[in-house]
Amino acid sequence: MEKNIIAKAENFVKHELANAEGGHDWWHIERVRINALRILKTEKADSQIVELACLLHDIADSKFYNGDEEIGPAKAENFLKQEGFDDEKTKHIIKIIRHMSFKNSFDGKKFTSDEMDIVQDADRLDAIGAIGIARAFNYGGHKGREIYNPGIKPDEKLNKEKYKNSKSPSINHFYEKLLLLKEMMNTKSGRTMAEQRHEFMKLYLEQFFSEVE
Ligand code: ADP
Ligand code: NI
Repeated sequence: MEKNIIAKAENFVKHELANAEGGHDWWHIERVRINALRILKTEKADSQIVELACLLHDIADSKFYNGDEEIGPAKAENFLKQEGFDDEKTKHIIKIIRHMSFKNSFDGKKFTSDEMDIVQDADRLDAIGAIGIARAFNYGGHKGREIYNPGIKPDEKLNKEKYKNSKSPSINHFYEKLLLLKEMMNTKSGRTMAEQRHEFMKLYLEQFFSEVE
């Protein structure tokens, strides 16, 4: 049974995310898993928990459910319970899903484990670099946001509520979140991967402002 759980989770997630926004779709999940497997080559952790948490982490992102932060963990938990998956491991996976989000980092770190550190790093890596740039503008487009508005400056002192309700131009998101992620990485190999992606974003922003200002 447990051998199949990863394949079953894949199918479940693909089905749930069939109509997702391009930055939070199945391919985001697949990239996060690939990032996590790369980190796992040098970090010790339970790979089954890491992989399942990656697969289930964005099953129902609260951004797309009117801010409801319970639907995602509840759906993931129901799935694992229905499959008869180990109770302790299920609890661990649900804790990871609950605590890994950037917006929850405003509340301070409330839960940590080796597996959590890896999954969170893997998700953060997909928010930066070339793919991070693509996702930010795709999300902004999906929400009907402006790309750039020189009259609206980034707010670098966001709290959770302000961050969630922000309607600012997509370019501001780089200063409000994406450029902060490198310093927040948990694992050594995650940080090394983040550094290169971070430099690429900085280069991109230099070029962007040289064109528009
Ligand atoms: P998490 O999934 O860790 O809670 P977010 O939901 O804040 O993090 O963001 C996930 C991704 O969605 C970001 O990395 C970015 O690509 C996109 N995104 C979220 N908020 C914005 C925004 N205000 N402008 C542009 N992109 C955004
Ligand atoms: Ni994610």
